[in-house]
Amino acid sequence: MQELATVKEQIKTFVIQCNDKKSLELFNLLAQGKMLRSKLILKIAGVSDESIKLCAVVEMIHAASLLHDDVIDESDTRRGKPSINALFDNKTSIMFGDILYSKAFTQLTFMDKDIAYTVSNAVTLLSIGEMLDVDLTNDFNKSYDKYLDMIYKKTASLIEASAKAAAILANKDKDAFALYGKNLGLAFQMVDDILDITQDSKTLGKPAMLDFVEGKVTIPYLLLWERLNTNDKIKLEKMYKIPLNDEQINWIKLQMKTTNALEDSIKLAQSIGNE
Ligand code: FPP
Ligand code: MG
Repeated sequence: MQELATVKEQIKTFVIQCNDKKSLELFNLLAQGKMLRSKLILKIAGVSDESIKLCAVVEMIHAASLLHDDVIDESDTRRGKPSINALFDNKTSIMFGDILYSKAFTQLTFMDKDIAYTVSNAVTLLSIGEMLDVDLTNDFNKSYDKYLDMIYKKTASLIEASAKAAAILANKDKDAFALYGKNLGLAFQMVDDILDITQDSKTLGKPAMLDFVEGKVTIPYLLLWERLNTNDKIKLEKMYKIPLNDEQINWIKLQMKTTNALEDSIKLAQSIGNE
């Protein structure tokens, strides 16, 4: 997609406008993402100077959130490359995140008020979502509602806001597009949680089967726990938040298969995606 190259150029222009050599150096070290949010915006609003700028703003906010998230998650890799916190340190990752995030907000002040509100409000939601995600790793979470609320805020809120803001830009039905973005975002995060179990480290660009070790009880684990007998529930709970050996990994994967927890998680993500 040629338009995505234009978005990348726009982001670079915004970073250059920050007038700081180190920021530009750090920017050049960031690994390329899928640009899902930009693809969505451009599909809804078409290509224009305004839509390209909106894409750049959203991508900068997303990049900032990942720079902070890698510090919070103590992650050494991002998109298959060393993360900024691994290459430099936590301080650099946080500060560069702040630069991208605040520059994006400066650009928002030049945009339509409804768009600026929609996007900035989503950043509050995604920050709350990250806090919920961290809090949910304190104990084995067994609540689907808490999981859903967390993934809505952490991931779906910015995708919802992207679709809504693009609809405002294009004079389309903003509520309909917001709902579309929300469901796409929820399905996207569920698929991400499923891939942690089904894919290998090489494909993921980060260690596989890590969510449960990090205390994240994602949708396949929630369904699995519900379906296990009392003894196996206890067995699974004992594996929570500890480094897993091959035998334990194989046991979890086998139980996910025999209880259909994995298959039904995929079906759930598909049905939300279809909505
Ligand atoms: C990745 O989730 C993280 C997010 C989608 C949101 C993170 C949000 C913040 C840190 C709030 C701060 C925001 C700003 C703009 C200052 P994950 O850890 O489940 O996914 P991963 O496996 O890709 O790391
Ligand atoms: Mg993370």
